[in-house]
Amino acid sequence: MYATLLLSTSLLLAWASGQNNVSDPGVAGPPLEIVHLYYDQWPTGITVSKDGRKFSNYPPGLDANITNDGTNDKYTTAELMGTSTERPYPNAEINNPPGGSINYSTSPATNYQNYLIGMQSVVLDPLDRLWILDTGRALTPDATLVPASPGGPILVSVSLSNDSVIQTIIFPPTVAYADSYLNDIRFDLRAELTESGGGVAYITDSSLEGRNGIIIEVRSERGFVPYIWGVPLYYIPGPGQPLTTTPLGADGITISADGSELYWGPVGGLNLYSVPTERLRDQSPNSELLAQAAVQNRGQRGVSDGFETDTNGYVYAGNMEQNAISFYNPANASPTLFVMDPRSIGWILVRFTFSFLHGSE
Ligand SMILES: *[C@@H]1O[C@H](CO)[C@@H](O)[C@H](O)[C@H]1NC(C)=O
Ligand SMILES: *[C@@H]1O[C@H](CO)[C@@H](O)[C@H](O)[C@H]1NC(C)=O
Ligand SMILES: *[C@@H]1O[C@H](CO)[C@@H](O)[C@H](O)[C@H]1NC(C)=O
Ligand SMILES: *[C@@H]1O[C@H](CO)[C@@H](O)[C@H](O)[C@H]1NC(C)=O
Repeated sequence: MYATLLLSTSLLLAWASGQNNVSDPGVAGPPLEIVHLYYDQWPTGITVSKDGRKFSNYPPGLDANITNDGTNDKYTTAELMGTSTERPYPNAEINNPPGGSINYSTSPATNYQNYLIGMQSVVLDPLDRLWILDTGRALTPDATLVPASPGGPILVSVSLSNDSVIQTIIFPPTVAYADSYLNDIRFDLRAELTESGGGVAYITDSSLEGRNGIIIEVRSERGFVPYIWGVPLYYIPGPGQPLTTTPLGADGITISADGSELYWGPVGGLNLYSVPTERLRDQSPNSELLAQAAVQNRGQRGVSDGFETDTNGYVYAGNMEQNAISFYNPANASPTLFVMDPRSIGWILVRFTFSFLHGSE
C-alpha cells in the first residue's frame, strides 16, 4: 500500500505565540510522498479517481482571495494535472460567473446561480462520478460571508469520461438555509435504499452562524483549545473581536464500506461519533429521537477536519496535535497510529486519499 498526501488549510485561525512550543518531532509509518503543490489557493477537498485522476476545490466561503470578482479568472474546482499544474474543472466557463460570484446590485448581495460559487468539497462516488458540493456562498473582500440565495447551494455531478455535467441537484431553502454551510458528502449507492434506486448522499452542515449537524446537532466541545505544533489555537470571530475557542461543529464525514454506518466529528473536539445510516434514512414520526438514541461515541480520534474509510472498514482521521493520521478500527473499537511526520502533517491537513494496490494493504 502507498499513501498519497495532499495538504490544505480550511480556516482563518489565529496563532497565539507561545513561549515554549512543545511539538512532537516523532516520525512513524510509510514515508510521505509529494503529489501536488498548492501555491496561491488552498484546497479543502481532494479526491482521486480509480485510474488516478486527482481533483481539488478551493473555498471562496473561507478565503476571499478565491472569490471570483468577474475579472480575476479564478477557478474553484480543478483537475490536478501534475505536481504544480492544474486546470479549471469541468471547464473554465462554469467556474466563471459573469460579473463574479457575488451580485452586489442586490441588497443584501446575492450569489449567482448556474455557476460554481462556493465550493467546499469534491468527492468521487463508488461509480467514479465526481460530485462537487457548492455552499452557494462566497466571502466579500472585507470577509463578509454572503448568505446563500435560493438555488445557490447545489450538488453537481460530472462524468469523468467526457468531463460533462451529468446532473445538478438544487437544494431547496428548507434543506440548505441561507446561513447553512454545506461541508462534506458521502454516498451509499445501494439501489434498494430508495424508490428511485439512485442511492443516498449524506451531507454535513458546518455553519458557524446557523444550525449545524447532519440531522442531529454536532456542536464543538465547549472551551476546547487544540495545540498545533505546540501552539494553542484560537478562532477570531471577526476583525477586532476577541479570540474564542474553536466553534466548528460537524465538518468531515465518512461512511463505512458497506454503507451501514456514518462517522463524523466536530473540528472543535476530539471524539469520533457514528450513527447507523438506517436511522438517518428513517422518515417515521420518531425518527429523530431514534437517531439521537443510536449515536455512539467511538472515543478520541484527535483534532481533525476530513475523514476517510477504506475497504478494511478502518476510519482514518487527521490528528493535528500529533502531526499524524490515525485510524479507528471498528473490529476492536481502538484507534491506531497510521503515519506521523512533523514536517507536513499539521493543522493544515484535511483530506488524504489512499490507493490500494491490488487490494492488498
Ligand atoms: C512558537 O510559535 C510561534 C508561532 O509560530 C512563534 O512565533 C514563536 O517564535 C514560537 N516560539 C518558540 C519558542 O519557538
Ligand atoms: C490574499 O492575497 C493577498 C495578496 O496576494 C495576500 O497578501 C493574502 O495573504 C492573501 N490571503 C489569504 C487568506 O491567502
Ligand atoms: C443581479 O441582481 C439584479 C437584481 O436582482 C438583477 O437584475 C441582475 O440581473 C443580477 N445580475 C446578474 C448578472 O444576474
Ligand atoms: C457524458 O457521459 C455520460 C456518461 O458517463 C453521459 O450520460 C452524458 O450524456 C455524456 N455527456 C455528453 C455531453 O456527451
